[in-house]
Amino acid sequence: MHIKTASNDFPINDLLRGRWSPRAYSTQPVETEKIKSFLEASRWSPSASNQQPWRFIIGFRGDETYRKLVDSMVEFNRLWAVTAPVLLLAVAKTTNHKGDPNTAAIYDLGQSVAHLTFQATADGLFVHQMGGFDAAKAVEAFGIPDEFRAMTIIAVGYIGDPEILHENLRKMETTPRERIKIQDLVFSDSFGNPADFFHEQTNQQ
Ligand SMILES: Cc1cc2nc3c(=O)[nH]c(=O)nc-3n(C[C@H](O)[C@H](O)[C@H](O)COP(=O)(O)O)c2cc1C
Repeated sequence: MHIKTASNDFPINDLLRGRWSPRAYSTQPVETEKIKSFLEASRWSPSASNQQPWRFIIGFRGDETYRKLVDSMVEFNRLWAVTAPVLLLAVAKTTNHKGDPNTAAIYDLGQSVAHLTFQATADGLFVHQMGGFDAAKAVEAFGIPDEFRAMTIIAVGYIGDPEILHENLRKMETTPRERIKIQDLVFSDSFGNPADFFHEQTNQQ
């Protein structure tokens, strides 16, 4: 299977290097123990005032929850995500325990999903997040209360053969991953001014 490792300029952990978002998923079910582990990892993520504003709805290929999640996806995502054995809806609780807005909720949910992702990756799984779905439809389908916001659908499973994909998607499966240069992301002195230590030559792994 084609693995799109990062072409990193500086050393990073192999888990981060090897993670990417595939679209060709094998239908092979994911072991319950691995599912428990990646959900447990999400639980141990940090959050503002320890509000833990993440919630997940999990569906397994063939069940009603899974069908509702697929139903809410945009067509592009429906093209590929339907072979993934596990789909999750990631939901943020946008209020704190006093009922006031929690402005960190979306940030914290994302970080929780990052924790989930790296545990899943460590266990040989692949994770692909999707913003392309009708959140209102998902809210309705699952009876999600007002103070919650449905943010992403997440496919989890083992990687599959790119040959199963529609032709256009197959190309994307082998295209190298691209990133903005680190000098354009990390600044010192003033916004936009690259941090000094990044002036040195990059691309030495
Ligand atoms: C919040 C979020 C929404 C995304 N939405 C979609 C989506 O709707 N469909 C899709 O195919 N990929 C989606 N992606 C995957 C990104 O396109 C992918 O992570 C990005 O191109 C970087 O590729 P990599 O994860 O393989 O490094 C989404 C990723 C995130 C984090």
